Amino acid sequence: MRKYIIAGNWKMNNDLGASKLLITNLLNGLVDKKSTEKRIIVSPSFVNLYPVNEWVKDSVIEVAAQNMHFEQSGAFTGEVSASMLKSIGIKTVIIGHSERRTFFNETDELLAKKVETAIQNELEVIFCFGEQLADRKSENHFNVVEAQLSKALFQLKNSAWNQIVLAYEPVWAIGTGETASPEQAQEMHLFIRNLIAKNYSQELANTISILYGGSMKASNAKELLSNLDVDGGLIGGAALNSEEFLTIYNSI
Ligand code: 13P
Repeated sequence: MRKYIIAGNWKMNNDLGASKLLITNLLNGLVDKKSTEKRIIVSPSFVNLYPVNEWVKDSVIEVAAQNMHFEQSGAFTGEVSASMLKSIGIKTVIIGHSERRTFFNETDELLAKKVETAIQNELEVIFCFGEQLADRKSENHFNVVEAQLSKALFQLKNSAWNQIVLAYEPVWAIGTGETASPEQAQEMHLFIRNLIAKNYSQELANTISILYGGSMKASNAKELLSNLDVDGGLIGGAALNSEEFLTIYNSI
């Protein structure tokens, strides 16, 4: 059965010293030394992946990369490959974040290639998607989400889905302080699970963790996470504060 996941996307925050401090505070504050029902993940920048992964290696905290290139290697200055991530012990990668889509022009077609490469390299993918404010206002949000998932993921074989975690992140809620209501989140998450059931099977759909992202914080996490189809969160701002982040984790 699917697991709850609380993942912190640090984005372009935390230099080496700040990363060390945050990890130290998380390790000190974590009550769980082992958990079978829920996972806790942090996602530092590329340069801090290796040390952070070393610092958490005897704990329940897992480490994910924020991005990767779709090619295995080559003349792609400034990029990082799946095999490089694997070689330092990283097992999970975030793909498709709205900031990558917006600021780095990542298209659904490009993201499909990245997902394919990650799967081939046995990395787990946290795949992000979600509608813009205009899409929701024009009641086009379900169509947008369906198109994003169809283009990037629905070409995958059944067996690849045990490496996929979904993160629904409505763009209008990211970093804005505005959050989808628990009803809006549940409605979309159920829609997403039904899409997987339609394209694959209900059995497979029931195993997929669907995270919510967009201004999730200590004060609203419990309400969001109490929904049947909300299996965790992908957290930006509130993941930079150990107390906030652990309160979210402990609210499951
Ligand atoms: P905020 O939690 O800061 O809104 O960011 C969400 C996000 O983009 C996580 O990937």
